[in-house]
Amino acid sequence: MNVMTVRIAPSILSADFARLADEVAVVERAGAQLIHVDVMDGHFVPNITIGVPVVAALKRATSLPLDVHLMISEPDRYLEAFISAGSAMLTVHAEVLPHLHRTLTRIRQLGAKAGVAINPSTPFDAVAEVVQEFDHLLVMSVNPGFGGQTFIPRTVQKVADARERLQRAGSHATIGVDGGVDVTNAGPLAAAGASILVAGASIFGKPDPVAAFRDLQNAIGAAK
Ligand code: DX5
Ligand code: ZN
Repeated sequence: MNVMTVRIAPSILSADFARLADEVAVVERAGAQLIHVDVMDGHFVPNITIGVPVVAALKRATSLPLDVHLMISEPDRYLEAFISAGSAMLTVHAEVLPHLHRTLTRIRQLGAKAGVAINPSTPFDAVAEVVQEFDHLLVMSVNPGFGGQTFIPRTVQKVADARERLQRAGSHATIGVDGGVDVTNAGPLAAAGASILVAGASIFGKPDPVAAFRDLQNAIGAAK
């Protein structure tokens, strides 16, 4: 993986929800190429965040692609709504989907990139039979539900293994990492084969998000 092709996806979960458009504009000016949007339902994860109307509002506020991460128990009920609202990529969790093949196929049919997320305790094998059906594998590096949690170090090896498995299967899916990404782990993750790094607290939780974005870019660039 050429580390220069790694993209940082600021997660708006740690942004000021009352000033979302401005917060997104700041990271857009800093050079962000996509915006990560965390949807939580209070069932699959112990927290509630935002839904379809906020995705639609963000779509009007930015030209950046929206990378929408559904942490909800019944994603099938909402695929169409989230894609119509402007999700360029829609990521669902393998843990809640007995018919993952059908769900991923449907996301593509609806015109979005299909992403599948796996929790820290979920092995790559959970998605091995559907590698041709997804465009993006999101490897969770925290137990989902909250921003600002501590990165689980084992993720670096999990990413390296996933990269190898995908390559062997002839898949060109991107690998994302979500949770606790910061300047200490961004380089190793990029070197292991991650090409989208989601970052919430390490960008929006900092007094100067533009400088924080640049620091992350430098950490990735320094990885060889
Ligand atoms: C966690 C969410 C993440 C979160 C990442 O459940 O899926 O996208 O916003 O935030 P940080 O970077 O603060 O861990
Ligand atoms: Zn997320």
